[in-house]
Amino acid sequence: MAITVKRVAGALGAEISGVDLSKELDGPTFDAIHRAFVDHEVIFFRDQSLTPEQHKAFGRRFGSLNIHPYVKGMDGHPEIMEIIKEPTDKLNFGGGWHSDMSFLETPSIGSILYAVEVPDFGGDTLFASMTKAYDTLSPGLKQTLEGLRAVHSANREYSAQGASAQKRGSMQVADAEGMAGEFTHPVVKVHPVTGRKALYVNPAFTLRFEGWKERESKPLLDYLFDHARYEAYTCRFQWRAGSIAFWDNRSVWHFALNDYPGQRRHMRRVTVDAV
Ligand code: SIN
Repeated sequence: MAITVKRVAGALGAEISGVDLSKELDGPTFDAIHRAFVDHEVIFFRDQSLTPEQHKAFGRRFGSLNIHPYVKGMDGHPEIMEIIKEPTDKLNFGGGWHSDMSFLETPSIGSILYAVEVPDFGGDTLFASMTKAYDTLSPGLKQTLEGLRAVHSANREYSAQGASAQKRGSMQVADAEGMAGEFTHPVVKVHPVTGRKALYVNPAFTLRFEGWKERESKPLLDYLFDHARYEAYTCRFQWRAGSIAFWDNRSVWHFALNDYPGQRRHMRRVTVDAV
């Protein structure tokens, strides 16, 4: 198969055409997709038709599949998270900037989101490049962050009082309180494939810098969060049924917009763990 890769924005994102992801990929096609994934940080596909098995098989080419510790998976397919907003739901899942699973000891490589049903308008997903965010920091701040580690946890987001508790709507989300540990990760992450550096903190799951109080961490974290979502470091994907977005959680944040009141949106996500 001859695939084409077309950039969609200056900072990150590329659309790939000429491939049917329901079929087993040959070596060169897989390599080209993998290269585009790490180079462009989020890749998009259109007009795909994936059964849950085919969705999982595509994900497994990149690593083992995560079973989300707090969100109940699809019946018979625990590796697939169904992200559904019903017309009566007020809040949505993923409606804040975050990097999936940064609260785990070994965070995930990437997430593959497939659109089953989309609203007539709205429901786009925004992506932000943490590579770009890091590259554009001053040499002084880069030096300050080098060697720092940050503490991540699911507690704030997935506890009974947390943000996801408000957003769960029709989805079944377990209460993380008392279950979720805290894990530290480098604030500047070196991508294992490209060797590029990316900022690895996010508003949903990063609590503080290791060895710092939350109050001490907040001003610098807030600065980094503001800096990282600068419009020029982002791209935006408008979904159609059958579209797929595959983003690199090591270097990308994402944000699901909630601007389609009274309409239904149904997505399926698999999340790829470290190989
Ligand atoms: C998520 O994975 O956070 C949800 C993204 C989306 O529904 O667009």
